[in-house]
Amino acid sequence: MPACRELVVECESLAPAPSTAAVSDFGRRFWTHRESHLTAHTFAVANQKGGVGKTTTAVNLAAALASLERRILLVDLDPQGNSTSGVGIDKADLQLSIYEVLVGGDPMIHVIRPTGTPGVDLAPSDVRLAGAEIELVPTIARETKLQSALRPVRELYDVVLVDCPPSLGLLTVNALTAADAVLIPMQCEYYALEGLTALLTTIDLVRRHLNPSLHVTGVLLTMVDPRTKLSDQVAAEVRRHFGDRVFETVIPRSVRLAEAPSYGQPVLAYAPDSQGSAAYLSLAREFLQRLDRASLGTASGTGELSGVAAGALPDGEGVDRA
Ligand SMILES: Nc1ncnc2c1ncn2[C@@H]1O[C@H](COP(=O)(O)OP(=O)(O)O)[C@@H](O)[C@H]1O
Ligand SMILES: [Mg+2]
Repeated sequence: MPACRELVVECESLAPAPSTAAVSDFGRRFWTHRESHLTAHTFAVANQKGGVGKTTTAVNLAAALASLERRILLVDLDPQGNSTSGVGIDKADLQLSIYEVLVGGDPMIHVIRPTGTPGVDLAPSDVRLAGAEIELVPTIARETKLQSALRPVRELYDVVLVDCPPSLGLLTVNALTAADAVLIPMQCEYYALEGLTALLTTIDLVRRHLNPSLHVTGVLLTMVDPRTKLSDQVAAEVRRHFGDRVFETVIPRSVRLAEAPSYGQPVLAYAPDSQGSAAYLSLAREFLQRLDRASLGTASGTGELSGVAAGALPDGEGVDRA
């Protein structure tokens, strides 16, 4: 990962602030009040399996980091738009979304909007984004649309979190190409490691051809039930494969975490004293510690996918099924 200062220089040289005529009211306010600070680190929250906690992690990690005074841009890259509704934005009211950015070429600053969580801004998505997978196919530089769109706004934030769809299509490839690192939520269940080879192979391909500095920052164990032996076994197996790439923090199964999206709130706002809230705060602290130590992506082996992507972990293997 290039030094932050280099990234700032890169941002400044490539992305001058847009003229005031070209930006929305919100964007104008933003550009006017921006402070000089290090440019954002961008993370793709990815796993092609659905229901593993990508959106829950993107929304709640964003809110937890914001509560620790970081400025966060949450990019909803899933046509289901669950991150969008999860932070209280009504998809029916959307005039502009990330679709206009990726397919229409609109500046990112036109679609970014504040959310009910101070410190968290959102680039929203809705079902039209599903068309982007097909509409982008014949376009030039189709894999780098998000990367280019984020460049002018990265310096406004400390962290950009991209919530990926449950597939390895062009949208996820765009996220991986734009990202410094990948955060992989993994549901603590029997088949946790199944299908992972495909994800790691995609990450490796993107790293080789599109984004050489991409790293796997961390694997996050989600929906952990500490009362079951199975959770312990799966966690041990995942740690055996990924070593220090696995966050020490684990996210427990929590009813409050499942309820919060229906109120359009991160769990920190919906149930601040809940276990889920404490877990995502703990994750945010660990995440920042790793970032501060610059160990995200550089801890032993994090830059290499080693034998896993090379096929040492075939789909369906690696979990003790005994
Ligand atoms: N730690 C958790 N405890 C309880 N329910 C959870 C937890 N994490 C996620 N969920 C629920 O599981 C479902 C899938 O989670 P989600 O974050 O949407 O997964 P993904 O984005 O990977 O498809 C959602 O209904 C969500 O509310
Ligand atoms: Mg999701």
